[in-house]
Amino acid sequence: MYRAPRGTTDIVPEDQSYWRAIERHAVAVCKKFGYQRIDTPVFEAAGLFSRSVGEDTDIVEKETYTFQDRGGDGLTLRPEGTAPVCRAYLERGMHNLPQPVRLYYFCPIFRYERPQAGRYREHHQFGIEAIGDGDPLIDLEVIQIGWTLLREIGLRSLSLAINSIGDSECRPNYHKHLKEYYQGLLGKLCEDCERRFERNPLRLLDCKRKTCQPYVEQAPRSIDHLCSACMDHWVVMLGHLDSLDIPYRVDHRLVRGLDYYSRTVFEIQPPNEASQSAIVGGGRYDGLIQELGGRPTPGIGFGSGMERIIANMKQQELAVPRGLPRPVVVTALGEGARLYSLKIAEYLRNEDLSVLLAPSRPSLRAQLRYASSMDARCVLIIGDEELENGVIGFRDMDKGEQKQLTVADALTALRED
Ligand code: HAM
Repeated sequence: MYRAPRGTTDIVPEDQSYWRAIERHAVAVCKKFGYQRIDTPVFEAAGLFSRSVGEDTDIVEKETYTFQDRGGDGLTLRPEGTAPVCRAYLERGMHNLPQPVRLYYFCPIFRYERPQAGRYREHHQFGIEAIGDGDPLIDLEVIQIGWTLLREIGLRSLSLAINSIGDSECRPNYHKHLKEYYQGLLGKLCEDCERRFERNPLRLLDCKRKTCQPYVEQAPRSIDHLCSACMDHWVVMLGHLDSLDIPYRVDHRLVRGLDYYSRTVFEIQPPNEASQSAIVGGGRYDGLIQELGGRPTPGIGFGSGMERIIANMKQQELAVPRGLPRPVVVTALGEGARLYSLKIAEYLRNEDLSVLLAPSRPSLRAQLRYASSMDARCVLIIGDEELENGVIGFRDMDKGEQKQLTVADALTALRED
């Protein structure tokens, strides 16, 4: 027996209504804010991600699915959505459009992670990117979209964590302070942190190991080392945030796991959960487009794990509309009746009704049992007698009543229901 690969899952029919509900809400919110859909390939040149996400990040170092295709090209299954969108922005000449370019996407994401609750090797993201405007108002817009989406889906007790990690101007100085602080702790840190100290000091704050937590708590804070331009951006952005009804907390440890971020970083987290289960994660990436060969162009966006949204919807017991309307079941006894039932079913489907043909069973009683098990709203019964008289039996499953009607009257009854 084959099983789905570790860390992947099937989206079975009973879960589809959650996915469709999220998509509906996400598309509606994007429409209100003027965001347009973009789809990019499932795989990209491997170099795109090492260049943008960063060689020294967990994602690139340990988690990518990278392979050589039969032509010898090095490809990587998309481990995140931002770099491909920025690649498309440049390749498709979107820098020539009015800025910012506002885009959204739904896509599968592949990361070779240790599977656990809410952490998969294939997950699906809804994400947005606003490229070409560095104004703090856009930071607010992006945060507002993530927040509005989760609220409209019905999630409650969420919290917004926010931080600024500065830019290429001020970060080197902050790194210096971080390294001075951690210098005295070398030998006490976990293996990963010992390596981060040399290669990527900001990541030291992102360590989830218990033993490193006390050191993280006491570490110097990035917002105390911002240059004046980053400080202005931060202050104005917080001012905008205060004017909205979005509760937030500044989290000095929030640095995010991808190297392209600058200035604002944020996460929306569910109640009583550790930070690694963020529902939404995002931030500014003002240096990324240039890193990929474009002119200096600011950008900001977020990604949101659909599986995590659904897990939280289930936890908060949110109802979603059924995937299919309650069906009409057509039962037929006898060869002639079966042929006729096909015609009736086609007629009703053309009228936009959901119609199931009952499987051939020897008795009406068995066919009715099937109709009950499918939660049918009504059953149309066609036997020899009905066929002869040009009528059908119409059984209302909720009222338990049955009458004989012409097909046209049956349709009227279904419409009135
Ligand atoms: P990220 O924080 O790596 O950011 O992922 C975004 C969201 O995807 C997370 O908040 C979480 O909901 C979900 N997620 C991440 N990894 C997994 C996993 N293994 N299993 C299930 N869900 C997961 C990014 O990917 C950035 N590209 C976001 C962004 C867009 N920043 C700017 N623009």
